[in-house]
Amino acid sequence: MNKMTAAITAVGAYVPDFVLSNEVLETMVDTNDEWITSRTGIKERRMLKEEGQGTSFMAIRAAQNLFEKSGVDPKDIDLVIMATATPDMPVASTGVYVATQIGAVNAFAYDLHAACSSFLYGISTASAYIESGRYKKVLLIGADKMSSIIDYTDRATCIIFGDGAGAVLFEPNNEGLGFQDEYLRSDGIGREFLKIDAGGSILPASEETVKNKQHYVFQDGKTVFKYAVSGMADVSEKIMERNNLSKDDVNWLVAHQANKRIIDATANRMGLDDEKVLINIQKYGNTTSATLPLLLSDFENQLKKGDNIIFAAFGGGFTWGAIYLKWAYNKQ
Ligand SMILES: CC(C)(COP(=O)(O)OP(=O)(O)OC[C@H]1O[C@@H](n2cnc3c(N)ncnc32)[C@H](O)[C@@H]1OP(=O)(O)O)[C@@H](O)C(=O)NCCC(=O)NCCS
Repeated sequence: MNKMTAAITAVGAYVPDFVLSNEVLETMVDTNDEWITSRTGIKERRMLKEEGQGTSFMAIRAAQNLFEKSGVDPKDIDLVIMATATPDMPVASTGVYVATQIGAVNAFAYDLHAACSSFLYGISTASAYIESGRYKKVLLIGADKMSSIIDYTDRATCIIFGDGAGAVLFEPNNEGLGFQDEYLRSDGIGREFLKIDAGGSILPASEETVKNKQHYVFQDGKTVFKYAVSGMADVSEKIMERNNLSKDDVNWLVAHQANKRIIDATANRMGLDDEKVLINIQKYGNTTSATLPLLLSDFENQLKKGDNIIFAAFGGGFTWGAIYLKWAYNKQ
């Protein structure tokens, strides 16, 4: 009998309707469509404009989309893992609220925060729970309302990020499909280069921190870019080597959508042709925890049972890694 593996068996997604295009950003900060497109690959991003709504609003809709498509009963979910860097509130787990709202009344839930690698690390966590035999249905949601922490007068960050949510269901598989291997890394050297200074335990919110705009994302883009390019390519190459995968064996690269040039560099190192590299950064920008499930949702029709997928991500902290997974179903 095969070892029990953890497979993705359903996908759902949600993005807000409001579109913020490069052309509109040109009217807000000193930038232009040509610069943004050539440096990042982004043409537009979504923003959650609903008054008083946070990340959970999108996470709930992504999960509901998954239930509608798959017919899975929320009452059968054992665990909800909410990957996010922008929880609804600093205290009171967003995942717990989401689980209750979607009717996952028999599940427990919690948040997992590893900046742009949150969903990647979530794949590792969800798979481990399934492989251990402890739970049968784990719902992993990746959602971020990046617009809530972005300064729309800072051209270094406001062109990059967007809002969105995606969800996947993990279940046991006896055909050897699903999660195969992971190579996850982190390095605290990254803390200075991508961060929000205030609002945490070091520098609690005050009149001063608000005045100094210290509740917004700060990014030293050039330095992050340098680490991201080598970090994502290194782990992707490593996971291929370790599993004896040639470039022909890999069907898809599902990489964090932070910058098209970082994705291209990773694909290049792996020797992959463009058609194997899933890209939707032009539509959504960097949605942090939602980039990987949004790719799975957008390209679900093309993924075939048995396909070899390499997931790769890089994020603040620094956090990064690659995961090798075999796709487990053909979309009906
Ligand atoms: C942010 C990023 C797109 C900037 O691209 P870059 O090629 O590094 O650009 P630089 O910061 O070197 O800036 C180049 C020039 O463009 C200017 N510039 C910066 N932002 C600009 C903008 N939005 N519009 C127009 N010009 C801009 C800079 O001022 C600089 O001008 P100068 O040469 O006269 O000083 C890129 O560094 C990046 O993607 N970084 C990593 C992002 C990432 O992966 N983050 C998340 C990990 S999850």
